Amino acid sequence: MPDIVFLNDRFVNYSEAKISIEDRGFQFGDGIYEVVRCYNGKPFCLDEHLKRMLQGLEALKIKAPYSSEKLKGIALEALSLSGLKDAQIYIQITRGVAPRRHAFIGDMKPTTVLIVRKIPDIDPKIWEEGVSAIVMPDIRWHLCYIKTVQLVPNCLAKVEAEAQGAFEAVFERDGIVTEAASSNVFIVKKGKALTHPANERILHGISRGVAIELIKQLEIPFAEEAFTVEELYDADEVFLTGTISEVLPVRKIGDKLIGNGKPGPLTRKIQEAFINKVNEVCG
Ligand code: PDD
Repeated sequence: MPDIVFLNDRFVNYSEAKISIEDRGFQFGDGIYEVVRCYNGKPFCLDEHLKRMLQGLEALKIKAPYSSEKLKGIALEALSLSGLKDAQIYIQITRGVAPRRHAFIGDMKPTTVLIVRKIPDIDPKIWEEGVSAIVMPDIRWHLCYIKTVQLVPNCLAKVEAEAQGAFEAVFERDGIVTEAASSNVFIVKKGKALTHPANERILHGISRGVAIELIKQLEIPFAEEAFTVEELYDADEVFLTGTISEVLPVRKIGDKLIGNGKPGPLTRKIQEAFINKVNEVCG
């Protein structure tokens, strides 16, 4: 089944989906995106993703082309047309098309793209065995809570991670771990879980929010508290959260094994609780 594509008010064939050369998403990275995971033909946390998307549009002063309800309807229709059970919905809204000029005008017509496709092939062993990561400087702008399509620093970090045989790049700013190239980062030390506070330095990940809710339900001591790169290396457990990563153990950072190099017990509990939650919502 080919990808299902919605572009500006209608479903179109993939090969016919074309964007103007002067779309500001293309020229300025002037847009917002979301990736929503679907299990068993049902989206997980769709409302939360759409809420964040509308907040992002507001932050960039892009007039939302659709209400959350309307976007939800389009996403569900696209998913149903795809016939896919395990899928991802990619939604991107840019400011729209205008002759290239930095300052934008207020009444532009945004460009909306929605694509449904199958989940990328990832070896399921990574959730069992954990992944390795490297630490990279966080060279991004200071408003990382806005999920803009300006992802070049993230892409460069990911390429470097892959070049070093690692799965993910963990970002550090002034010695503090912020998040990772495409996921949020948690550590566990002496039974207590920590993750960076949800401020402007990180994306307020939807999976991060789910993980925090589960950590609290499991009564695991927890704080939204910044931690250093040294604390990351020295952690008993490290795990990542993300729409595609779900809850993903990290077994090694650079050359340093985390704990005994195997996913730790609290990570396992949170992973299990996450799967149960997915089954509860999408089962
Ligand atoms: N990335 N931090 C960054 C920088 C991200 O790009 C992502 C997600 C996350 C995790 O957020 P969430 O739990 O809402 O997926 C954290 C998506 C999946 C992507 O760019 O493909």
